[in-house]
Amino acid sequence: MYAIGSDHAGIDLRNEIKAHLEGKGVEVKDFGTFERSGCNYPDIAEAVAKSVAGGECEAGVLICGTGLGMSIAANKVAGVRAACVSEPFSAKMAKQHNNANIICFGARVVGSEVAKMIVDEWFGAEFLGGRHQMRVDMISDIEKRQLVKAKRASKTK
Ligand code: RB5
Repeated sequence: MYAIGSDHAGIDLRNEIKAHLEGKGVEVKDFGTFERSGCNYPDIAEAVAKSVAGGECEAGVLICGTGLGMSIAANKVAGVRAACVSEPFSAKMAKQHNNANIICFGARVVGSEVAKMIVDEWFGAEFLGGRHQMRVDMISDIEKRQLVKAKRASKTK
């Protein structure tokens, strides 16, 4: 199952991408927002990121005006590798080299056809492993070191 979420800026594109994924036979869990009047993108990013990091969803798509806020927020959840892209080549590389488990893009940046190409390239690509696995492991190591630091700091309080 894939997770999808957007803020108010990305509602229409989210609906299109959700239908596109479902058309490929992918089950999609929609985390909203359903509030056209406005919402705060970190809330949606956190919900989608946790569903992916926790294993409920195998991967996720996040959309806001630029894709930037969503990717920055999602990457605060340990285990998430969220890539913000605006064209299909980077989307493919995000999977092949970075094993990105969340793809982000901006509804004010890309049109719906480019967004579908982005999703298709990312969805269809395979992580290449090898030296790329070693580098992705190095990213996880940064998370682990941060966690150890935070635990130590909380004990010394
Ligand atoms: C909302 O206006 C906008 O800031 C948001 O969609 C996103 O682009 C943030 O990164």
